[in-house]
Amino acid sequence: MRLEKPSEKWQNEHLAYISEWGEGKLSPNRFRLEPDVSYNQFLDQLTHLESGQPGQIPTSNFFLVDDDRILGMVTIRHKLNDYLLNVDGHIGCSIRPSERRKGYATKILSEAMKITDELGIDDVLITCNEDNIGSAKAILNNGGIEAEPFEEEHGNVIRRFWIKRRQ
Ligand SMILES: CC(C)(COP(=O)(O)OP(=O)(O)OC[C@H]1O[C@@H](n2cnc3c(N)ncnc32)[C@H](O)[C@@H]1OP(=O)(O)O)[C@@H](O)C(=O)NCCC(=O)NCCS
Repeated sequence: MRLEKPSEKWQNEHLAYISEWGEGKLSPNRFRLEPDVSYNQFLDQLTHLESGQPGQIPTSNFFLVDDDRILGMVTIRHKLNDYLLNVDGHIGCSIRPSERRKGYATKILSEAMKITDELGIDDVLITCNEDNIGSAKAILNNGGIEAEPFEEEHGNVIRRFWIKRRQ
């Protein structure tokens, strides 16, 4: 099991993941595919995002894969701004619906932490909605230390956790 950057060979699996996800908003949102954007254009967009465009925070995106199957998706933001500091944090991930409750969220965060280590991020912020028990547990499994929650304007409470760099 490993992280792999999206590439053409994963297009069909990516579509299968989205179809399994169903109607709800796909998370992380960087992995959404728009009908008027080709897969190659989508891949180009990810490359641009990673290189850091003016006014944008550089972002790396990976699939968690096992053999030829995508198990999960993760977005890693290289820096925080005010919004990310309160709401989204450095890392956002999801696990394919049919693959949940098998430890893969814990694994994808652990693999993502290797990337944040490489990026030199000393304190990694990971957040989740108050009612997202699976996500909170996966963060705690990776050594997350809970910080002050943040309440959004509409009353949604975000739990916030810091994980220290390991190297
Ligand atoms: C949240 C999510 C990532 C969890 O993925 P997962 O692969 O099922 O998580 P894991 O198998 O690593 O589970 C971690 C722990 O949480 C528990 N858990 C997972 N889902 C749970 C649920 N719905 N209710 C209660 N506990 C849950 C597991 O039993 C495990 O417990 P343990 O550490 O005591 O053994 C997945 O449900 C998902 O993709 N949800 C939609 C997107 C999302 O919410 N992303 C996170 C945004 S921050």
